[in-house]
Amino acid sequence: MLTKEENEFLTHVGPGTPGGELLRRYWHPVAVSAELTDERPTMFVRILGEDLVLFKDKSGRVGLLADHCSHRGASLLYGRVEERGISCAYHGWLYDCDGNILETPPERNDAIMKSVKHTAYPVQRFIGLYWAYLGPSPAPVIPPYDIWVRKDGTRKITVRPVLDCNWFQPMENSADSPHLEILHQDGAGREAPPNTTRGFIDDVESYDYHVEEWGALIKTRVYKNGEVDAHPLIFPNILRVGDRTQIRVPIDDTHMWHVVVAFTPSEDGSIVEDPEDLPFSYDAPYKDPPDARHPVARHKMDMVPQQDYMVWETQGPIANRAAENLSYGDRGVSLLRTMLRENIERVQQGLDPIGIVRDPDLRMIDTNLDASIAMESRGRPVGSRASRANATGSS
Ligand code: FES
Ligand SMILES: [Fe+2]
Repeated sequence: MLTKEENEFLTHVGPGTPGGELLRRYWHPVAVSAELTDERPTMFVRILGEDLVLFKDKSGRVGLLADHCSHRGASLLYGRVEERGISCAYHGWLYDCDGNILETPPERNDAIMKSVKHTAYPVQRFIGLYWAYLGPSPAPVIPPYDIWVRKDGTRKITVRPVLDCNWFQPMENSADSPHLEILHQDGAGREAPPNTTRGFIDDVESYDYHVEEWGALIKTRVYKNGEVDAHPLIFPNILRVGDRTQIRVPIDDTHMWHVVVAFTPSEDGSIVEDPEDLPFSYDAPYKDPPDARHPVARHKMDMVPQQDYMVWETQGPIANRAAENLSYGDRGVSLLRTMLRENIERVQQGLDPIGIVRDPDLRMIDTNLDASIAMESRGRPVGSRASRANATGSS
């Protein structure tokens, strides 16, 4: 249980909030790169409570600028891209990717061009996504997790629907191992559990949680048949489960963008060159009506991800942690909260939080990917079922 103030400390993401300042120390994906085209060179992006516009100018540079023009606030989403940047549709103020104002029609106002800098953030194209960094300089590097940089396979992207909840609810869910055997006990193709209250929990001998220095909370599940599943929650907002990373990007305090990058190793271990734009697809809505919240919306429950979406959203736009009663089974959640609090405090002290990589020559971070892929290909040993259906879950 947390006080209202502690809850806000951990969950709020806007500029100047403690949690928002922590999240601004990491790179976040903001768009699928294949979707920013010469025909559609601007995209609206909302991240960490900030309204931004991603654009590609006619020289091929990509920028991320505050949505509202520094002149009188019209949206740059409707700007015209040119060789040197993007020109506001209203009066033509021209911005480059760094937020410099290059022209101020109808007159040339040197004082404004010298003194006003439009909010701009660095952008990188990586594994078929555009990534943004909203924190102080110098920016770190995007961590080279094995699943993102290994060359012996191919990657693909799935964009999940926007979730109407705070980003930390799915992360707590990812540090909550026992829910797999209970929440996800039923679904397509699975046998019924011994009873619905305990689901398949009695197939599990033990759960363990520990933090590793490279920036992960490792969850270990030991089954009674001897199988062991250990995979990382990569702090702060990524779950690496099976062959994929689920990246939970906070849009604002009560919404989250959810993008999945999956890796398929080549069968013979040969090197495969990923195209710059990866194949991508969008998942269907997970509730009806898709834009309503609980209890107006009715959540679908027949697939593992949808079961997770139901619990994340029905906890509330921001879960009321002042009203909860944690138990021993929630110790992974408690550990994650401690990790979040401690790393927010590190940022407040001017230190890097865990998992920040500043060495551009670091080749790869081992997330124990092969063991997870092997485990998943055998099917999780829950009951007697080969529960490949869990493969897209977040457990
Ligand atoms: S509002 Fe953008 S140029 Fe005037
Ligand atoms: Fe789950």
